[in-house]
Amino acid sequence: MAIERTLSIIKPDAVAKNIIGKIYTRFEEAGLRIVAAKMLHLTREQAEGFYEVHRERPFFKDLVAYMTSGPVMVQVLEGEDAIARNREIMGATDPRQAAPGTIRADFAESIEENAVHGSDGPETAAREIAFFFKPEEICPRTR
Ligand code: TYD
Repeated sequence: MAIERTLSIIKPDAVAKNIIGKIYTRFEEAGLRIVAAKMLHLTREQAEGFYEVHRERPFFKDLVAYMTSGPVMVQVLEGEDAIARNREIMGATDPRQAAPGTIRADFAESIEENAVHGSDGPETAAREIAFFFKPEEICPRTR
């Protein structure tokens, strides 16, 4: 399986609950390495740009309000099959549908406030990583 990178966001509800460390442990236990990270309070422009594909969806305005409601922790995760692996440990978008033991099942409030974001494919991952990180801000492991 290929070594991939994916963009992950710990969303404002999870940052507010002080569970960044608990979520990082889930990444590490799944074999995903954090190769870049930053905390940001997104501007409306950033949130709208990041979720551009959802602009016409009925939940867009609320999604942008939520994503700008407090700081987020943004990271690049690297590992074998990282995109699918991260989606697997995140669980379904709606925490009520998420498999037991997933991040969303254990920590998310609702479909709107669902604790984490993870890229859904290779093209999205490339776009989303470049949205937040310059190439020199990503630190591949040397040992
Ligand atoms: P989506 O890309 O469908 O889900 P995922 O985050 O699992 O890739 O949707 C993006 C975000 O939009 C989702 O995490 C939460 C929000 N959202 C809603 O608020 N209501 C909805 O009905 C859907 C589908 C998404």
